[in-house]
Amino acid sequence: MKNNLKKNNPIGVFDSGIGGLTVAHAIQQKLPNEQLIYFGDTAHLPYGDKESYSIKHYATEISKFLVEKNCKAIIIACHTASAIAYKEIQKVVGNKAIVINVIEPVVKLFSKDNFPKQENVGIIGTKGTIRSNIYTKLIKAENDQLGVKSLETPLLAPMIEEGFINDKISQAIIDSYLSNKTLNEINHIVLACTHYPLIKKQIASFYNDKINVIDSSEVVAQYLYEVLRTNNLLNNNKTAQHTFYVSDFTESFEKSTRFFFEKEITLEKKNIWS
Ligand code: DGL
Repeated sequence: MKNNLKKNNPIGVFDSGIGGLTVAHAIQQKLPNEQLIYFGDTAHLPYGDKESYSIKHYATEISKFLVEKNCKAIIIACHTASAIAYKEIQKVVGNKAIVINVIEPVVKLFSKDNFPKQENVGIIGTKGTIRSNIYTKLIKAENDQLGVKSLETPLLAPMIEEGFINDKISQAIIDSYLSNKTLNEINHIVLACTHYPLIKKQIASFYNDKINVIDSSEVVAQYLYEVLRTNNLLNNNKTAQHTFYVSDFTESFEKSTRFFFEKEITLEKKNIWS
């Protein structure tokens, strides 16, 4: 049981950069009364290529910061940190907040009720996520008749962070990765990196819109809604503005935040490691 969580406390969301904004945006759409505190760890981006030790360190420090900000829930809006640091985050947060990773809600979709036939699921993500093998393990445990085919796509997150979206360069990189024979004969593809919803259209069009492209952001927002509702923690009153922290100012972060959250945003640089 969690301690003293209050309905009107904020929800903390973090990622290495702009990727988690796709999750934060979906949460805002689903739960417009909730106040968000976002932390983009732009100083350590990309997480996908880092050692597990470093990811655990960054993710636990950010989680402690979000606990200090009285967050009632912390959303690990990063598949790499969810794959590698979930247990460590749970340990440092203890009963001070609800911790939600982005992998479990996606895996739950693959139940035998939803996917009764033998089919193949493709997973694309960072080196950290794919090498952890977590999707294969958890999907097989959920539904052993599904085939899981995973591919590391490490250039995609830095490419998106640098603004290469809906252009020839990004299309060439996407085409090259998705043509890899590892992904032959897939029926579904999971965007196992929170940056990838920003290139969802390009991925869908590679497959001529014929396969199911699964974007974790809406799934996680729906899951968070259920968790808050069950714990009687839904905020009923419109509260203060969202706050966005970054560990390093980047043009791309500011641009993306304005794109997702339209109006005025408060963006503050915070060095929580000094
Ligand atoms: N958006 C992150 C993920 O979901 C991390 C990308 C990166 O920093 O490498 O894995």
